[in-house]
Amino acid sequence: MATPEAFTTATASRSASPSAWWRSAAIYQIYPRSFADGDGDGIGDLAGIRARLPYLRRLGVDAVWISPWYPSPMADGGYDIADYRDIDPVFGTLAEAEALVSEAHDAGIRVIVDIVPNHCSDQHPWFRAALEAGPGSPERARFWFRPGRGEHGELPPNNWQSVFGGAGWRRVTEADGAPGEWYLHRFAPEQPDFNWENPEVHAEFESILRFWLDRGVDGFRIDVADNLVKDPALPDHESGPTPWADQDGVHEIYRAWHKVLDAYDHDPVFVGEVWTSDPERFARYLRPDELHTAFNFPFLQSPWDATALRTVIDSTLAEHAPVGATATWVLSNHDTTRHVTRYGRADTSYALDGRRVHGVTADLGLGRRRAAAAALLTMALPGCVYVYQGDELGLDEVEDIAPELRQDPTFFQTGGEDLGRDGCRVPLPWGDEAPDARSWLPRPAAWDALSVREQSADPDSMLGFYRRALALRSARTALREGEFAWLSAPAGVLSFARTAAGSSVRCLVNLSGTPLVLPDHTEVLIASGPAENGTLPPDTAVWLR
Ligand code: GLC
Repeated sequence: MATPEAFTTATASRSASPSAWWRSAAIYQIYPRSFADGDGDGIGDLAGIRARLPYLRRLGVDAVWISPWYPSPMADGGYDIADYRDIDPVFGTLAEAEALVSEAHDAGIRVIVDIVPNHCSDQHPWFRAALEAGPGSPERARFWFRPGRGEHGELPPNNWQSVFGGAGWRRVTEADGAPGEWYLHRFAPEQPDFNWENPEVHAEFESILRFWLDRGVDGFRIDVADNLVKDPALPDHESGPTPWADQDGVHEIYRAWHKVLDAYDHDPVFVGEVWTSDPERFARYLRPDELHTAFNFPFLQSPWDATALRTVIDSTLAEHAPVGATATWVLSNHDTTRHVTRYGRADTSYALDGRRVHGVTADLGLGRRRAAAAALLTMALPGCVYVYQGDELGLDEVEDIAPELRQDPTFFQTGGEDLGRDGCRVPLPWGDEAPDARSWLPRPAAWDALSVREQSADPDSMLGFYRRALALRSARTALREGEFAWLSAPAGVLSFARTAAGSSVRCLVNLSGTPLVLPDHTEVLIASGPAENGTLPPDTAVWLR
């Protein structure tokens, strides 16, 4: 692999220290609509998050990442933002957000917020002004407005498709009532893309970052971080590099943003949603003067297979090393099929750019065993570990949501061919909801047994297991900061050590299909299943001392 452009320590930020908090943090993703409902209207909110801070503290996470909480018409679950400096009334108020940040800090939990710089809502004042101002105006120059092709401008300006299905352009009606220009939307038509060629867009987002940093937030998760800059010629795309993603100019944006963060002394960070599959290009985002971390999608997509997992772990570590960056380990998020379900299917891999499969049988018991083993694997690997809300309860994908209840635009824009992401966004079962409580997506009856209340009472539940594992991870320097080394193991078994200051923890994951005789050890720190009599069953992981 080519080494990305060398860096000098002069450009590295103060937070580059190997023990910086974000280098080994356990970060819990909150999708606010579905985490906890504080006011009983069926939709999660900030009051709910504040009330559950003791739960998160007890779980043992270092930080939360909160998916968008801003005013939004919710055409894309909040990723269509109408005002970047306020809170949607469904969730609460700005004062409550400030209180949440400060209460989380009191509980020892840092707060990362989502920022969506690629596009806004079509209800954002800038976009409304652009529609009103008409062709050629400075207001339109903040977006990608272009005349259509064809004799009457009736064809989109180029052949780019929306990620959610259909054309990536929508035609507007001008003030005189005639069909007019088209605007680019990489996602839903209600999400017009900003034009990052325009300096006003840069100034606006740097100001938005400061707005939230001044309120004490500890960082930003950057939505579709590699899409901001487009090839300004907007060429048709047939094959090869995509003119809407991973353009070199995007790095200038993150260098400028890094400087914004560096002016704050509470060590805030960026985590980028970067989709590029080229390891060398991925690493460019992680140069010391750009983003601190980025999501590891190749790991999330890997099948439950020892060779495939080992390959992706190796390539992850290799691509991060030249830039001195820290890896992230993610099993699920608000866009992907929950991994309990994926790991219970015959095909355990996941394609981010494919359609979400449905009607496929899943053995959820098997999926949960593998999910617990995968949790120990991710928590033992060097870097940050992400927990998507409900992973700690072993929740599965809800696949039987009635079409009329579905809300995800991918479902509608693909005519139901892609079930969409609602199935991983069903509100968490707390077990103490009012008996007649409804929720914006119905919870399956089978989740009653998986509720927080049920699992809290049982130390051997998935929740009890997550609590123990996260506590061990934070208590053991070897697991957080130790050197990583593969150890020899039979085929189908992953075995590695993390070692710091002469103390070692060994992680073994048995993907071999037959029981594994454990190597010599002094103590079983934790196992994801029965590890008695010195053997580890298939689909089980263990940490040994
Ligand atoms: C990201 C988000 C996803 C959203 C999309 C458009 O991929 O994770 O939920 O739909 O960006 O903002």
